[in-house]
Amino acid sequence: AAIHLEDYQPAPYHIDTVDLDIHLAPTATQVKATLAIRRRDGVAPGTPLWLNGDETAFTGLAVNGQGLEESAYTANERELVIHTPPAEPFTLEVRTWVNPEANTQLSGLYRSSGNYCTQCEAEGFRRITYFLDRPDVLSVYTTRIEGPKADTQVLLGNGNPVESGDIPGTDRHYAIWHDPHPKPSYLFAMVAGNLAHVSDSFVTSSGRKVDLKIYVEPGKEDRCDWAMDSLKRSMKWDEDVFGCEYDLDVFNIVAVSDFNMGAMENKGLNIFNDKYVLADPETATDQDYANIEAVIAHEYFHNWTGNRITCRDWFQLCLKEGLTVFRDQEFSSDMRSRAVKRISDVRLLRSHQFPEDAGPLAHPVRPRQYTEINNFYTATVYEKGAEVVRMLKTLLGDDGFRKGMDLYFQRHDGDATTIEAFLACFSEATSTDLGQFARWYEQAGTPLVTVKSQFDATAQELTLDITQSIAPLPGQATSQPAVIPIRFGLIGQDGADVTASRITGAEVRGDVLLLTKASQKVTFHGLEHRPVLSLLRGFSAPVRLEAHQNLADLTFLARHDSDPFNRWQAVQTLATQELIRLTHEAHKKGSLEVDDRLVEIFGTILSDQGLDPAFKALALDLPGEADIAREIGKNVDPDAIHAARMAFRSAIGAAHLAAFHALLADAPQEGTFSPDAASAGKRALAAQALGYFADAGTPAAPDKVWHAFQQANNMTDRIGALTLLVHRNLPRAEQALADFRSRHSDNSLAMDKWFTVQATTPAKDGLERVKALTAHPLFDMTNPNRMRSLIQAFATGNHVQFARKDGEGFAFIADCVMTLDPRNPQVAARLLTCFRSWRSLEGERSKHAEKALLRISAMEKLSRDCRDIVDRCLQ
Ligand code: ARG
Ligand code: ZN
Repeated sequence: AAIHLEDYQPAPYHIDTVDLDIHLAPTATQVKATLAIRRRDGVAPGTPLWLNGDETAFTGLAVNGQGLEESAYTANERELVIHTPPAEPFTLEVRTWVNPEANTQLSGLYRSSGNYCTQCEAEGFRRITYFLDRPDVLSVYTTRIEGPKADTQVLLGNGNPVESGDIPGTDRHYAIWHDPHPKPSYLFAMVAGNLAHVSDSFVTSSGRKVDLKIYVEPGKEDRCDWAMDSLKRSMKWDEDVFGCEYDLDVFNIVAVSDFNMGAMENKGLNIFNDKYVLADPETATDQDYANIEAVIAHEYFHNWTGNRITCRDWFQLCLKEGLTVFRDQEFSSDMRSRAVKRISDVRLLRSHQFPEDAGPLAHPVRPRQYTEINNFYTATVYEKGAEVVRMLKTLLGDDGFRKGMDLYFQRHDGDATTIEAFLACFSEATSTDLGQFARWYEQAGTPLVTVKSQFDATAQELTLDITQSIAPLPGQATSQPAVIPIRFGLIGQDGADVTASRITGAEVRGDVLLLTKASQKVTFHGLEHRPVLSLLRGFSAPVRLEAHQNLADLTFLARHDSDPFNRWQAVQTLATQELIRLTHEAHKKGSLEVDDRLVEIFGTILSDQGLDPAFKALALDLPGEADIAREIGKNVDPDAIHAARMAFRSAIGAAHLAAFHALLADAPQEGTFSPDAASAGKRALAAQALGYFADAGTPAAPDKVWHAFQQANNMTDRIGALTLLVHRNLPRAEQALADFRSRHSDNSLAMDKWFTVQATTPAKDGLERVKALTAHPLFDMTNPNRMRSLIQAFATGNHVQFARKDGEGFAFIADCVMTLDPRNPQVAARLLTCFRSWRSLEGERSKHAEKALLRISAMEKLSRDCRDIVDRCLQ
C-alpha cells in the first residue's frame, strides 16, 4: 500500500532516551532496548503504542520493570503493539534477537568479512529492535556493546566513548558509547570486529580537539591517507564556508566491503562502502580519488544537513540529500577546477537524472507517495535536488543564500523538518517570495526551454521568444511554469561580452534572466550589432534547452564563450547534432561521412594552448551512447548509435593524428604519482589522445596501446589502456587481462574494474562473455560491489549488448534480478531500474524488454522493492 505525504501525522509518543545493550554472537545476537516513553501533548491516555518491526524476533518485554499479560500486547515479525500503555511517562524494555550472519539484505545488523556492522537508513533499525522507526522521533542514545574479545577487538557506537572493560571470568568485553545529540533511529550505528585503524586529529574553530579514526580490515591501513586528508579538508571547509563546526570528541569512519549504497552518515560513526575510502596509485583511478573526496565530504557535511537538522518524514529526503550533494559539489569545486567539476556534475545529471525524469520512474524532487522508500534514493532526489538548491543560490545571490542558510541552521537546529520550513528561511532572510520556486520540488519532469531569437538592426534590438513546458508524465498530465534562472551573456564579434542598455520582458538580476511564464518575449535593447547569445551559462537550471543556434554561432561559442561550461556545451551541442544525423544514416545503412567542419572544431580545441588539460579532455569526449539515445528519444537503435559514434571518433582521430601523437609524446612520465586535479587532468587528456590514436586506425596504434598498458605506473593509465585493448578488440587484449588479473587478484576493488572492462565491451559476444564471467571463481553475486561491477555495469554501460535485438541481454538481466531479489531486494531493485527507458527503444527491442519485465512481474514472492519498480515500469 502506498504512503502519502498528506497523511503525515506526528507520532503519538516521544521516545526521549534509548539505552541499548547488545550482546554480539554471529547467529544469535541479543538486544535489550530500554526506552523512556512519553505521551505527546493532546494524545488521549491509553492510546496504543505501535512500534515497527521487520523480521524482528521478539523475546520479551517489560513496562516499568513489570512483565505484561500476553493479551496486553501483540508481538510479531512486523510490529509490537502495547494495547493500553500507561498514561504517565514510562519505560519500555524490549528484548529481541538478531541473526547477523543470515542478514543478506545488508539492512539492520549484519556481518561483512566477519565484522559486525549496521545500516539503518531508511528503515533498518526496526530489524534490530521494535521502534518508532521514523525520522521525526528524536532520542538520546546510549549503546552498550558486548562481544567476544577474540572476534570483536574493536567495539564502536555513536557519539563519544564513555567506558569499556573486560567482563570478569569470561572471554568477553564491552564498550559504552553515549551520543548527547537527539537523533532519529536511522542514524543509529554500531560496528564490532577485528579492525585496524589510522588516526589523526582536527581542532575545530572554537578549539575542540576531535580524534579522527578510519577503521579498515587489517592490512589496508596504508590505503586510508587520501580519505583522512579529505576528511580534514571537509571539516575545515564546512567551518569556513557554512560556519558549521563539529560537535563530538571523536569522528569515526569504518570501511566495509559489503554495502548496499555508497556510505552512511550515522552520527559520529560513518560507515562506508570501502570503495569510497581505500585508495593508492596502484589500484585507484583519478576518478576514485575524486569520488572518495566527494563522498567523505558528503557524509561529513550530513552532520549538520541531515543529523543536527533532519527530515520530518521520508518525503523530505531531498531536504538533507539535495542540500548535502550541493554542499559536496561546492567543496569539490573549491578543491579542484570549478568548471571541470560543473561539467562533470551536469554530465552525471543528464545521464542519470534526465532519463529517470523522462520515463516511468519519474517523480518530483519531493515525491508525494511511495510504497518502498529505498527506491527513492534516486538521481532526482539527490542530483536534481542539488540543482534546485543551486538555483536558489543563483536566484538570491551568494549573500542572500548564506543568510538563508544561517537562518536555517539557527532556527531548525535539533528539528525534524520540511522543505517548506527550509524555503521559508530563504524567503524571510531575503524578503523574496519563493511560492513559484517551490514548484521545483513538486513537479516531476525536465522542463524544455525553447528559444527563438531575432535581431532587428534598425531598432538595435535582439528579441527572444521563449517557452517552457514539461512533457506529460505518468500521473502528471499537465504542469505549471517554474521559475527558471537563465544565466546569459551576449558576445560581440571580438569575443568579449557586450551589454544591452535595457532588457524588457523578464526580470533580470545581474546576468540572470528569470523565466516565470509558459511563454515570454524578452528584448535586449541598444545593440549595434547582432551579438551571439550564450544562454544557460554554468547550466543555471536543470532544463533541456533548445536554442536553435546555427553552426556558425555554436562554433563561435565553442571558440569564444567566456563561460567555460557553455564553451564545452557548444561543442557538445554540435557533436550531438552530428551524431544524431550519423545515427539516422547508420540505421538506414547509409554512408557515415562525417562533416569536416565538425571534425575541425576538435582541432581548434586541441590546439588551444590556453585550455586547462582537464577541460580539454572533457571537450574532446563525445557524448556517450546513452546521451545520444536520450536526445533521439524514440525508436532508439543502439547499434546505429554505436556505429555513428565510432565513425565520428575515427574521423577526429584521423584528422588530428599529429596533434594526438604530440600529446602522447608530451604526456608526463612522472616519477611519483600525485592524485591532485592538475595531474589528473593531464592523465585524462593523455587518455583521450590514446583513445583517438587507437580509433584513427593507424597500424602503429595497437602497439602504442599495449605499450601504454605495460608502462602505466598508476591505475588511471592502466585501466584506460586496458579498456582500449579490450573494447577495440586489439591484439594482446586477453594477455593484458591476464596480466591485470595476476597483478591485482588479491585486491577486490581493482578486480571490480577488471570485471567492468569486460562487462562493457561492445563486442558481438559481449553478453556471452559476461555470462561466462558469472562462473569465474572471483565472481560473487552476493557482494554488491562485485555484482555491480559485472551485472549492473553491463546493464547500464553496455547499451548495444544489453538492448540486443534478440532480447538475450534483457533476459539475462531479468534472470539476475530474480536471483538477487530473495537475497538482497534493495540491490535487486536498483539493478532493475536499468529497464526504465525501455519504451524508447525500437519495436522489437522494446517488445523483448517488456517480456523480460513481465517475467519478473510474474515471479512468486517478488519483494516489495522489485514489485514497486516493475509495476511502475510497466504501467
Ligand atoms: N544517507 C546516505 C547518503 O546519501 C544514503 C543511505 C541510503 N541507504 C539506503 N538503504 N537507502 O549519504
Ligand atoms: Zn547523503
